[in-house]
Amino acid sequence: MPHELSFRLNDESINLDDFGPTDTLLDFIREKKNLTGTKEGCNEGDCGACTVAIGELDKGELTYRPVNACIQLLGMAHGKHIITVDHLSAEGDTLHPVQDAMARLHGSQCGFCTPGIVMSLFCLHEDQTDPATRETVNTWLAGNLCRCTGYRPIVDAALESCFGSKAPFAHPTSELSSIDPAKSLFTGTDEAFFAAPATLKEALDLYAKHPDVTPVAGATDVGLWVTKRLDELPKILYLGRILGFSDISETGDALTLGAGVTYEAALSHLAKFDPDIKELISRIGSRQVRASGTIGGNVANGSPIGDTPPLLIVLEATIELQSVSNKRSMPIEEFFIEYGKQDRKVDELLTSIRIPTLKPGEHLRCSKISKRFDQDISAVMAAFKITLNGGAIETARVAYGGMAGTPKRADRAEQLLQNVSITDESAWSPAIAALSEDFAPMSDMRASASYRMTAAQNLLRKALLEIGGVSSGETRVTQARPGDLEAAE
Ligand SMILES: Cc1cc2nc3c(=O)[nH]c(=O)nc-3n(C[C@H](O)[C@H](O)[C@H](O)COP(=O)(O)OP(=O)(O)OC[C@H]3O[C@@H](n4cnc5c(N)ncnc54)[C@H](O)[C@@H]3O)c2cc1C
Ligand code: FES
Ligand code: FES
Repeated sequence: MPHELSFRLNDESINLDDFGPTDTLLDFIREKKNLTGTKEGCNEGDCGACTVAIGELDKGELTYRPVNACIQLLGMAHGKHIITVDHLSAEGDTLHPVQDAMARLHGSQCGFCTPGIVMSLFCLHEDQTDPATRETVNTWLAGNLCRCTGYRPIVDAALESCFGSKAPFAHPTSELSSIDPAKSLFTGTDEAFFAAPATLKEALDLYAKHPDVTPVAGATDVGLWVTKRLDELPKILYLGRILGFSDISETGDALTLGAGVTYEAALSHLAKFDPDIKELISRIGSRQVRASGTIGGNVANGSPIGDTPPLLIVLEATIELQSVSNKRSMPIEEFFIEYGKQDRKVDELLTSIRIPTLKPGEHLRCSKISKRFDQDISAVMAAFKITLNGGAIETARVAYGGMAGTPKRADRAEQLLQNVSITDESAWSPAIAALSEDFAPMSDMRASASYRMTAAQNLLRKALLEIGGVSSGETRVTQARPGDLEAAE
C-alpha cells in the first residue's frame, strides 16, 4: 500500500506520511494549519461549531456535504476536498453570498457558532436539490446549535442566499482525480497505523493480521471514543475507501446496502418502503451525522438504542459477514446476542445488509421517542410490520430499541396479535399488556422504566390504530398520512 495521505485543504494540496491514527481533522485544521475560523465546541458531533464542507468525487463531479471535523479522523480525508470557513472569504473583500446574507440580515450573533452555520449553509447552497422552504433550512441547520437570540435571522439569510443561482466556486476536480481510488493508503508501523484499503481482500487480510485493529466507517461513534473517552486506538482500519463497500442495489424483492452506505445515501432508497422510514432516518443525528454515519456502523456497534436495528429486524433483514476464510449471513436479529456482545468474530467485517421489500398485505410503522425532535438519541424506538389477511392480523413483527440490553422482538405480544381483528381495539389489549412480559426496561437519564413501558405500549396501539384505518390526524402531530385501510379504498 502507498504510504501517503493526500487531500486538498481549501486551495492547498496536502501530502502527509506522518500523522497519528486518531488525529482528528479539526486538530489538523486548527493546530497544524492555524485555520482557526473553524471552532471547537462540544468535540462530540453535537454543536456544529466545527462544521467543514467535504467534497467527494462522484462520477467526475465534486459533491459537498457538511461534516463535524471534531469527530472525523484525519486519514478519512484521503482523496477529498476540505473547505473551511476561512477559504470562503479568501477572495479579497468579496464575501460568499451566504456570508453576505448572514451579515446583512443579522444572522451572526455570538459569532462562535457562525462559522459552522455558514459552512452548513454553504453546502446547502452548493446542493440546490431541496425546495426553498424554511423546513429545508431547518433540516440543514439541525446540527448547528445557536443558543443566543435564535434562528429566525439565520433562516432568513439562508432563504435569501442558498437557493437559485449558484455562486462560482473553484472545485479542484482535476487535482483530486489524480489521487487513484484503486490505491490503498497505509501510514505508520505494524504497531500503530492508519490503513484505508481499496479492496475488501486487503481489508480482510489486514484484519486477520491485526485482530486488535479498530474498524471505522463514518466515525460518528468511534470519533467520540477518541475525543471523549480518550481511548488509545493505535490501529485504525478505515473502510470508507473499499471499492463496492458503499454500493446500493435494488432488485424487485430486496434492497441491498453495502455496509459503508451512509444514512444520507440510503435515505431515498429506504423512503420508498414507507413514509415512516423517511421520517425516522431524517431524525437520526443531524445532516452532518447522516453524511458520515453508516447503517452498517449502527448495526455493528450493537447499541440497544441504535435507531435502525428494530426497523431492520421487523423488515426481516439479513446481514453478511466476511473474514479471510469465511463468508456467512444471518437474520439481523440473531446478531445481537446480549448487551455489548454481537455475533461477530474478531476478524470479521460486516459487509452488507439485505432488506426484503414489503409484500402486498404487509404494513409498516416505526416511531422514535426522544427528548428533542432533532439530534437526539432514542429513549424508545419501535418498529412494527403487520401482515393483514382481510381484516385480520395474519402475522405481526414487533421490535423495540431502548427496552432491553439489545434491540429485541416482542415475542409474546407478536403471538397474541395473531388472528386478531385489526379494527377491534379491545382485541389488541392482551398483546399490548404482554409487552410487560417481553421487556423489563431500565431507568436512566433518558427515561424511567415505567415511561418506557407506557410509551412502548402506546406506540403499538397507535400503529395498530393507523393500520386499522384511523387517520394520522388523530394520532400524530407532525405528519399526516391516511390509515392503511383508508388508503387502500
Ligand atoms: C451527534 C450524534 C448524534 C447521533 N444520533 C444518533 C441517532 O439519532 N440515532 C442513532 O441510532 N445513532 C445516533 N448516533 C450514533 C451514530 O451516528 C450511529 O451509531 C452510526 O450509525 C454509526 O455509524 P458509523 O459509520 O459512524 O460507525 P463508526 O463510528 O465508524 O463505527 C461504529 C462501530 O461499528 C464498528 N464498525 C463499523 N463498520 C463496521 C463494519 N463494516 N464491520 C465491522 N465493524 C464495523 C466500529 O468498529 C465501531 O465499533 C449519533 C452520533 C452522534 C455523534
Ligand atoms: S465541536 Fe461541536 S460538533 Fe464538533
Ligand atoms: S450564534 Fe452563537 S449562540 Fe447563537
